[in-house]
Amino acid sequence: MSNDHQLLIHNASQLLTLAGGPQRGNNLGNLGIIPGGAVAVQGETIIDVGPGEHLLEKYKGFNTFDAQGHVVMPGFVDPHTHLVWAGDRAAEFEMRLKGKTYMEILQAGGGILSTVDATRAASMDDLLHQTRQRSQNAFYHGTTTAEVKTGYGLTFETELKQLQAILTLDREGPLELVPTFLAAHAVPPEFRGRTDAYVELICYQMLPDLHTWWKERKVDRPLPFVDVFCEKGAFNLAQSRLILQTAHQLGFPTKIHADEFENLGGASLAAELGSTSADHLVKTPSQDIQALAHTDTVAVSLPATPFGLGEEEYTPSRAILEAGGLLALATDTNPGTAWCESMQFILALACRKMRLTPAQAIAAATINAAAAINRHQQVGSIEKGKQADLLILNVNNFRHLGYRFGTNLVSIVVKRGSIFPVN
Ligand code: NIG
Ligand code: FE
Repeated sequence: MSNDHQLLIHNASQLLTLAGGPQRGNNLGNLGIIPGGAVAVQGETIIDVGPGEHLLEKYKGFNTFDAQGHVVMPGFVDPHTHLVWAGDRAAEFEMRLKGKTYMEILQAGGGILSTVDATRAASMDDLLHQTRQRSQNAFYHGTTTAEVKTGYGLTFETELKQLQAILTLDREGPLELVPTFLAAHAVPPEFRGRTDAYVELICYQMLPDLHTWWKERKVDRPLPFVDVFCEKGAFNLAQSRLILQTAHQLGFPTKIHADEFENLGGASLAAELGSTSADHLVKTPSQDIQALAHTDTVAVSLPATPFGLGEEEYTPSRAILEAGGLLALATDTNPGTAWCESMQFILALACRKMRLTPAQAIAAATINAAAAINRHQQVGSIEKGKQADLLILNVNNFRHLGYRFGTNLVSIVVKRGSIFPVN
């Protein structure tokens, strides 16, 4: 498709623009609906948004695309995934059903570490092949941009292998991938009992080397995020602080896995340091919620994780909104806790388990999710100047998202102005 390709998508029952930037606290859920709306696209970019009659008149020479009275909305942004891995952990799923906990399995050298073994051993072709299938699943369920973490290599070389896989699949498209360096995902077997030594390796070798590697390759995009699994059995608060502070000193934006199983204070740390997001937030007490809510650090809830673990406790989302926080939703796609590529299923969970309305869940999965990866100027809403990343659903009322689950309600994905029909 040439760069000056001109497209007018019209006849939406509801055009959900999500215009106006990230939505804080109880302002969450403002969909900016234009009934009978239309979107004008030039090349990869949205050039106009408004009522259908008006735009049909104004853009007469454009190719038209009839949304046939269905909902048109921004593509989902998935701001927390571990999409690049090899193998599976189906046997561990059964062990957990029989009573073993996630952390017990990790302590015994399984869990994340078994995926590390498989991912280290996989050839690049195999890693790309396995990941491509998941990336396509995500895309055809409506995700147009996804953050992806490394963290199944745990040596510089193997972490870079994952990072290269992310960059390769991003170039391939159509799903756009935003990379995160997560060497601090688990303590590798070679460093068992010597967590501080591994943290030093990350801070004083891996992060500077990553910075050099990135700059030498002249990757034409922002530096990757740096993330840490702040949890008992992984990295404690002091170790997490050292990693995130070192990352900031080198210019990397940061994220944190906090309060998935126990509260160590990771959310407050993220707020204090100005991390872009704090993710999981299940065991988060009100003082940490307050600390977060007063900053621009986005609280990313991952409801497929407690669901996948068969647990009953979810992110205290209503308390986060009451406190005025920025709330986003993500899948956490990973082989251990949440092999789920569908943001639509996340919305359904968020409505039931966290009492979000469909409108709140949609905003948390689009414009706020974009803010959680610092891409809210480019994606997450249908506004003039933004990337033409949007969805045409096969329903005429946005509330079917959240209400229905288990089937795909997306019929067309538009990524950077190119049209991808869902089968
Ligand atoms: O976000 N908790 C740490 N990381 C992932 C799980 C990764 C895995 O089990 O492979 C998470 O839940
Ligand atoms: Fe995660």
